[in-house]
Amino acid sequence: MTLVLKIDPEKPDLNDVWVAARFLREGGLVAFPTETVYGLGANALDEAAVLRIFQVKNRPTDNPLIVHIANKDDVNVLAERVPDIAERLIDIFWPGPLTLLLPKSELVPAVTTAGLATVAVRMPSHPIAQALIKEADVPVAAPSANLAGKPSPTSAKHVLDDFFNKIEVVIDGGEVGYGVESTVLDVTVDPPVVLRPGPITVGELRQILGRVEVHPIAKAEMPAEAAIAKAPGMKYRHYAPKAELVLVEGSPRNVVDKIKELKESYEQLGKRVGIMATAETAGEYGSALVKVVGERKNLRTIAKGLFKTLREFDLENMDVILAEGVEPEGIGLAIMNRLRKAAAGLVKME
Ligand code: TXA
Ligand code: MG
Repeated sequence: MTLVLKIDPEKPDLNDVWVAARFLREGGLVAFPTETVYGLGANALDEAAVLRIFQVKNRPTDNPLIVHIANKDDVNVLAERVPDIAERLIDIFWPGPLTLLLPKSELVPAVTTAGLATVAVRMPSHPIAQALIKEADVPVAAPSANLAGKPSPTSAKHVLDDFFNKIEVVIDGGEVGYGVESTVLDVTVDPPVVLRPGPITVGELRQILGRVEVHPIAKAEMPAEAAIAKAPGMKYRHYAPKAELVLVEGSPRNVVDKIKELKESYEQLGKRVGIMATAETAGEYGSALVKVVGERKNLRTIAKGLFKTLREFDLENMDVILAEGVEPEGIGLAIMNRLRKAAAGLVKME
């Protein structure tokens, strides 16, 4: 059985939060909304519960989990040491979508960090996530609440599609805000390195820290297998839709023209073609199955619509999805990182 609790994010009902928190404390799996995507939570200190996360997700056990806390101070319990630059970032960006890699303390079991010496910690800003973690009074290990290889969930429906009757509780707190997962920053090295781009942009981090590097795998410019994976999860092909996704990058005009060409060719082969377009260009494609992911003039809307649109295409039984790329700047880098990792093929235009 999966208990579904509908909770108002504006005013979380503390009785419902209490019920969910009990399940967490007692070793259950509880999916909950965060400001980025839905997470699949377990008590991070309970090895058996954490192991179940890997099992139900079908996640390789060498891919470590992020540990979520509700008080800034709790970072000191999970990390052996918190470097000064981490302190500064915590002051500025927590609670929020920034995950910090820190040297782990003895307290954190090896299964949670996949045997690594570091632990990834984040303090979510979503009121339901905060209330749940506070009430459970344990650090909460939570990957995105999707089966391994599927797009991350941005609504409770997505979570139920993947885990109905496989986990104890799903908290339905409506649609999430950002739609892409948190920025992952390694602060154990100097200069710090972005391992996964997210809502806190490289530009924002550089404003605070000066030098910040972006791992090539975070840009997804090299084939994941070829990179020496610092974040083990980065080496897996993620977010893969059922259809073959072909990503077309370049200036909007060239992208549109190339997608039209590709559409014709695939259709000639008898393939069912879907197009993931932006509001500005969706009118260009004629009869094809076109889904609007968001607006180019506001990349946040594209981040928010990305995983939902990929999941919608999965229900349409398309053979090929032709996706428009966007400028990999600001949150656009997070969008392009997800798309490049989902893509079976990439076409680069001027
Ligand atoms: O926004 C988010 O971060 C969401 C919500 C639920 O908080 N969580 C999330 O978790 O995206 P997950 O497991 O889907 O992605 C965590 C990423 C993986 O790529 C993993 O390899 C990396 O963080 N990671 C976790 N711990 C790590 C560690 N100790 N060293 C390197 N990478 C780590
Ligand atoms: Mg994930």
